[in-house]
Amino acid sequence: MSLSIVILAAGQGTRMRSDLPKVLHTVAGQPLLAHVIATARGLEAGAIHVVYGHGGEQVRKTLTHLDVNWVLQAQQLGTGHAVAQALPAIADKDTVLVLYGDVPLTTAATLTPLLAHAQHGALGLLTAHLDNPQGYGRIVRDAQDAVARIVEQKDANETERRITEVNTGMLAVNAASLKRWIAQLDKCNAQGEFYLTDIIALAAQDRVPIHTAQASSIDEILGVNDRVQLADLERRYQQREAARLMRDGVSLRDPLRFDLRGELTVGRDVIIDINVIIEGKVHLGDRVHIGPNTLLHEVDIAADTQVFSHCVIEQARIGARCRIGPFARIRPETALADDVHIGNFVEIKKSQVADGSKINHLSYVGDSDVGRRVNIGAGTITCNYDGANKHRTVIEDDVFIGSDTQLIAPVTVGKGATLGAGTTLTRDAPAGELTLARAGQKTIAGWKRPVKK
Ligand code: UD1
Ligand code: CA
Repeated sequence: MSLSIVILAAGQGTRMRSDLPKVLHTVAGQPLLAHVIATARGLEAGAIHVVYGHGGEQVRKTLTHLDVNWVLQAQQLGTGHAVAQALPAIADKDTVLVLYGDVPLTTAATLTPLLAHAQHGALGLLTAHLDNPQGYGRIVRDAQDAVARIVEQKDANETERRITEVNTGMLAVNAASLKRWIAQLDKCNAQGEFYLTDIIALAAQDRVPIHTAQASSIDEILGVNDRVQLADLERRYQQREAARLMRDGVSLRDPLRFDLRGELTVGRDVIIDINVIIEGKVHLGDRVHIGPNTLLHEVDIAADTQVFSHCVIEQARIGARCRIGPFARIRPETALADDVHIGNFVEIKKSQVADGSKINHLSYVGDSDVGRRVNIGAGTITCNYDGANKHRTVIEDDVFIGSDTQLIAPVTVGKGATLGAGTTLTRDAPAGELTLARAGQKTIAGWKRPVKK
């Protein structure tokens, strides 16, 4: 028996007031729908069917890399009609789980009991007890407390509206039964739609047991209808991830000022100061310390490295015991080895810097190979671009580069060479020697400054 997951994502999302389909709006940098598909994957579904409609082509195009079965619902005639569109592709013996493309924080752990109920011939229904059930379908139970039906807010009478147990929309059941019930739905209700929720009464009539389960946190059942709810879910996601990281041993100076928009893995005793944004895959080794107001995008940082405040580091590998920033920018395809120091207002791009080298102030190092124990003085620029092509600069071990030096690539500075401050280097500098290119200094004796007439 295999699991088929149907994700409903055809709704218009009018209240987002957006040209972007609702399910493409993001939480933690990922489209809402991508979160739901990731959860579905975690359940090891045999097939994932995404029912799309409004703005659907854009949804499909944006998420083509996610291997799912796209099912078009040309007209939004209700949740029952939406599920019906996916049924022809689902075998009778399958278990079907219905999820919502705009409810991003549901966990596999919450859904697993629903699947277990369905596999034992019952219908598993995820419900919630809400102080304010306004807007939700209500769970109507009989005298024996068994679920009898669901009534939508708009169809409910006064008594039914006082019920605080609500339908989250998520359910699991055997496909053959689901097909039978969906074929019997009609539009005789306040909204003139085919309600998926009407299958509950049909299941009860067929004496199929209806078992309810609840999520461990309300976060898991909340959907997005407008940007206020989107921002609220973003915060809930961030708080959940921050709590998980802290339980894993990370110190977050303030969990309310931390943003994870990717995957963070950590060693022991990592400290992250406020307003740090993590994007893509990031690894921080033991005792790494990240200062405030820093962006890390696909970065791997080894043990005991300190990143001071206001750094932007993208697609880089950084070794152990380095000191980076404050105000450093490290751009893609950079690899810093161990004990490297990168100081303020330094930009490094597509370069390798070997062990123990220092670039401490106001420099641009691009397309370069920098050896060990190199000291690059303040205001050094690798002139890597001739207006048409990029060229490499090679700086061998133990080089000392004086301040305000330009290296016109392609150029090599030999091992142990020294470049005098202010040099514009256009040809290779030999190893072990002092090279400098500098206009001779002169003094005009007795020269007078002009004075105002
Ligand atoms: C639905 C449930 C309600 C439940 C609530 C939880 C029904 C009839 N009602 O109500 O009991 O409390 O969700 O949020 O099911 N969709 C489609 N195609 C359609 C209609 C909807 O794909 O034709 C998708 C929407 O994109 C959305 C989901 O189904 O993701 C729910 O639709 P929505 O119209 O928001 O249902 P509610 O009226 O909120
Ligand atoms: Ca809704």
